[in-house]
Amino acid sequence: MQERKTIHESWGSRWIFILAATGSAVGLGNIWKFPYITGENGGGAFVLVYLVCILAVGIPIMMAEVMIGRRGQQSPINAMRDVAEESGHSGRWSLVGWMGVLAGFMIFSFYSVVAGWVLYYLASMGAGDLVAIGSDTAVQRFEGLLADFDTLLIWHTVFVVMVMLVIMGGVRKGLENAVKFMMPALFVLLFVLLIYSMQSGSFMRGWSFMFDFNIEKLTMQSVLIALGHSFFTLSLGMGAIMAYGSYMPKHTSIGGSVLMIGGLDTLVALVAGLAIFPIVFANQLDPGAGPGLMFITLPVAFGQMPGGQIFGFLFFMLVGLAAWTSAISLVEPATAWLTERFGWHRIPSSLVLGVIIWLLGVAALSSFNVLADFKIFGFTIFDFLDFTTANIMLPLGGLFIAVFAGWFMKQVHSREELAISNAIWFKAWYITLRYVAPVAVAVIFILNLYEKLQ
Ligand code: PHE
Repeated sequence: MQERKTIHESWGSRWIFILAATGSAVGLGNIWKFPYITGENGGGAFVLVYLVCILAVGIPIMMAEVMIGRRGQQSPINAMRDVAEESGHSGRWSLVGWMGVLAGFMIFSFYSVVAGWVLYYLASMGAGDLVAIGSDTAVQRFEGLLADFDTLLIWHTVFVVMVMLVIMGGVRKGLENAVKFMMPALFVLLFVLLIYSMQSGSFMRGWSFMFDFNIEKLTMQSVLIALGHSFFTLSLGMGAIMAYGSYMPKHTSIGGSVLMIGGLDTLVALVAGLAIFPIVFANQLDPGAGPGLMFITLPVAFGQMPGGQIFGFLFFMLVGLAAWTSAISLVEPATAWLTERFGWHRIPSSLVLGVIIWLLGVAALSSFNVLADFKIFGFTIFDFLDFTTANIMLPLGGLFIAVFAGWFMKQVHSREELAISNAIWFKAWYITLRYVAPVAVAVIFILNLYEKLQ
C-alpha cells in the first residue's frame, strides 16, 4: 500500500478518535433537535424510520467517510481528489468536499445561534433567575430571548470564539483535549437526568410516545426528515467525519470504531428523548412544540425540582459542551484545507473562518427578530439553513460519498483500508453501500419531490 505523508497531527489513539467522532456526532442534534422533530412528526413511527436510516444508510456511509479520510490523509477536498485519482478517476470528486465545506458553514450559522441559547440559559440558571418558573413564564422567557437581537448576538459571538479557540489549538492540543473530558461528563449527566425523568411520573407516556408505532402519523416529509436527521446526527455528508478519519492512526479498525460511534450517538438521542418527553407530559406541555421544546419544558421542570438550579445549570453546561465538540468538527475540514492549500498556520485560518461563520450566524439569528419577515422559499433564514443542509445537502453529500466508495473507488483499496477479516461482513457493507444506501436516499428524495409537485 502506498503510504501518504500528512502535514497534520494524528489522534493519540483509536479511543481518542472514537471520542472525537462521538463528540462530533453527539450534539444539539441529539439533545435539542431529535426530541422536537420526533414530537413534530408524531413519535414512534418516526423513531423507527430514523433507526432504520442509521443502520442501513448512516453506518455504512460513516465507514466510507472514515475510510476515504484515512486513505487520503488530508482535508475532505484533497482526500476526495487524491483517492479518486488513485483509482483512475477525475480529481473533480473534490467537489463533494467543497459542498461539504459550504454545508459546514451553513450548519454552523444556525448551530451557533442555538448554542448561544444554551449559553444564555446556562447563565440564567447560574444566576438563579429560572427558579420555580411556570410554563407561561418559560414560554415568555424563550420568546423574549428570540426577540432580543443584542442578547442573541452576544451569546452567538461567545460561542464562535469558544470554537475558534479550540480550532487554533490544533488536533492534539485543541480538539483532543476538548473531547477527552467533556464527553464522559456528558454521559454521566444525561443518565442522571434520565433517572429523574423516570421518577417524574409520566415516564410510561414518554416511552409510548417514542416507541409506539403509529403508521398513520408517517408522511413522506417525515421520512425525509428522519433520513436527513440520521445524516445530521452522525455528522455525515459534509466531511467532518472524513477529516477526523484522516487523523486516525493507521492499522486501527474502522468498522468497530464506527459501530461504537453510531451506537453511542443513537443511545444519547434515545436517552435524551426519554429524559425530555416524560417531563413534557408531566407538565402538560405539547410534545410538538418545535425548536423551543428543550428551552421551555426543561426550565419548567428544573424550576420545580429540589436542587433544580444546580441541576439545570449542569444540564445546560453539558448541552453546551456537546454543542461545542460538534461545532469544532463543522469547521475542521475548512481549517485543514486552508493549512494544506496556503500553508497557513491554524491561527490565521481560524481567524478568517471565524469571521465568515460569525457573519453567517448573525444572518441566522436576525431571522427571529429584525429579519423575521424575510423569507426564502417560504422559510425564515434560520429554517432555510436548517432545512436545506439537513434534508438536502447532507443526504446528497452522503449519496455521492456512497456512490464514490461503492462504485468508483477500487475495491482493493477499500479492502485494504477497512481490513475486515470476515468476508461476509465486508460483503454486507459493500452491498449496503452500493445499493441500499444510494437507492434509499434517491427514492426518498424523488418521492418527496413528487409529493411537492402534486
Ligand atoms: N452531529 C451534530 C449533532 O448532532 C451536528 C453536526 C452535523 C456536526 C454535521 C458536524 C457535522 O448535533
